[in-house]
Order: sequence, then C-alpha cells, then structure tokens
Amino acid sequence: MLAMSRVIELIVNGAHRALETEANRTLLQVLREDLDLTGCKYGCGEGRCGACTVLLDGQPVRSCVTRVSAAAGKQIRTIEGLEQHGRLHPVQEAFLKADAMQCGFCTAGMILSSVALLEESPHPTDADIVEFMRGNICRCGTYARIMNAVRLAAGETKGGGR
Ligand code: FES
Ligand code: FES
Repeated sequence: MLAMSRVIELIVNGAHRALETEANRTLLQVLREDLDLTGCKYGCGEGRCGACTVLLDGQPVRSCVTRVSAAAGKQIRTIEGLEQHGRLHPVQEAFLKADAMQCGFCTAGMILSSVALLEESPHPTDADIVEFMRGNICRCGTYARIMNAVRLAAGETKGGGR
C-alpha cells in the first residue's frame, strides 16, 4: 500500500524547507535523497552506529530511525551547516588538527555529537566524552585521536596524538 504524501516543513541549517514527502520516510532519507545533504551517512540503519547523527534542537539524534515527520518545525543541523562565514566550526578544525579520521565514514556523526557535547558541557572530562560519544562507532578504531580532537576543541592542547 502506498503511503500518503504531505507537505512537511523543515528547518535545515537555518533555512526553511517545505517538501512533499511521505511522513514515514526517515529523516536520513530526506536529508540525503531530497536535500542532497550527504554528509550524514547510512551505516547500520538501526540506530546503533551513529553515522547518521544530526542535531535536532541541539540534541544528537539517529536520523536513520527518526521519522521525518518527527523533525518538522525543529532546528535540524547537519555537518553542512556547521561552517560559518566560510570558516570551519572549531570542532571541525580540531578534528583536522588531531587527524581524527581514517575513512571518514563516522566523522560527520562524531563531529556533530562533539558539538552537542561541548555546547552542553564546554569542559568535559574524558569520562564525560566517552559517555556522551558512546553511541558513535568508528570502524577504523580512531578513538584515541577522536578523544584528542574533542579535548582540543574544548581548549585543551592534546591534539595530534595517535
Ligand atoms: S545509520 Fe543510523 S545509527 Fe547507524
Ligand atoms: S574513520 Fe572510518 S569509521 Fe571512523
């Protein structure tokens, strides 16, 4: 049976977008397929890996298991929206400085979770970082450098370690 389409109003990286879509599609599908925001990745598709993480009203959510209808009217931030005035977000800079990526598949989700953490808690402990980032998995095992990147973004000076 075909699902009914309807117009859904989204606010993506500050821009209002009205699109006709089936309300039961996932936010990830709409971001990637309709809005061409392919920074968020399809990994497990089950809410377990964090590759599809975006921020919804500042909170990290797994867009692969979030219905697009649940995001209507909320502030959606994707990796494409972090840059401001042509400059990378400090967390993006920190990930580059700390060389905190290999294949890069997890990186957008890692960065967005880090942004949410640091907005909520600007000076997290290592335990805070591990706890908050628990849902983001890196198949390349880049965790030590990701930790360094988050510390660096928080104003520490431990970037670059491997
Ligand atoms: S693709 Fe969404 S959590 Fe893995
Ligand atoms: S850098 Fe490859 S999955 Fe994290």
